Amino acid sequence: MYSSTLLTFFALALPSLLSATAVTKPVVTKRAADFVNPTLAGGSWLDSSAGLGEPLNVVISAQSSPEVLTLDGFLQYAQAIGFNVECLGLHLGNPQSANLGDGRGWVNETEVLRESFGIPGVGTCLESLTGGNHFRVFPQAGTGALFLAVSKEEDVEDSHNIVPDGYDIGRDLLVAGAVGKKIGFDASKFKFTTYNTVLTNLTGLIAPGSDGVNHGIAQDGVIKLLTVTIE
Ligand SMILES: *[C@@H]1O[C@H](CO)[C@@H](O)[C@H](O)[C@H]1NC(C)=O
Ligand SMILES: *[C@@H]1O[C@H](CO)[C@@H](O)[C@H](O)[C@H]1NC(C)=O
Repeated sequence: MYSSTLLTFFALALPSLLSATAVTKPVVTKRAADFVNPTLAGGSWLDSSAGLGEPLNVVISAQSSPEVLTLDGFLQYAQAIGFNVECLGLHLGNPQSANLGDGRGWVNETEVLRESFGIPGVGTCLESLTGGNHFRVFPQAGTGALFLAVSKEEDVEDSHNIVPDGYDIGRDLLVAGAVGKKIGFDASKFKFTTYNTVLTNLTGLIAPGSDGVNHGIAQDGVIKLLTVTIE
């Protein structure tokens, strides 16, 4: 009788003791590994294009599902939130480079993705002609986090200049289209994927303003951290 009461006590108390420690631990380690601040090791939150730069205003956290941080997996995700590769492989403009403080110095963008207007195949051609949202991708060595320079640009007749306030506008449009649950469809594998994207606003990493910023367009100093989980 006595021993069975004791057993019941442990059976009830032990799991809650264990889960109490399990809940508090991972939270601390998680934040630290979203990315490494480039400026800690000689890098910058501005990429480089002929001396001036564009803000790296969105970061895809290294805590995202590993598949999302691969070249193909990220393209699948980008398609699910309304972006795609450039029109017929056409690339307008010179590549930009970024120094992410990861020991590699200034490294060219790996790709440019453009708003696809929901039209498979030719949507990004429309973006190239009419202007719209687009971003350059810079992966951080070591962490695998993806740094994006997002901006909304004018049409081709205005030689793809950034619209007034185009860094913040482009960033916020991308975030608005990404946060929450989005369903992607990979036609080549006939596979649906559900992405859950969670937003964290980061301040204090880049000073607000237009110092060193391309086209003299100010940004508000907020970096959007997106953590993307495949469900
Ligand atoms: C980066 O792009 C520039 C311009 O196209 C090119 O000259 C340079 O070789 C590239 N750098 C690397 C390391 O690929
Ligand atoms: C991030 O900032 C935007 C704009 O100020 C705000 O609307 C949003 O609620 C914030 N989100 C989080 C998760 O803090």
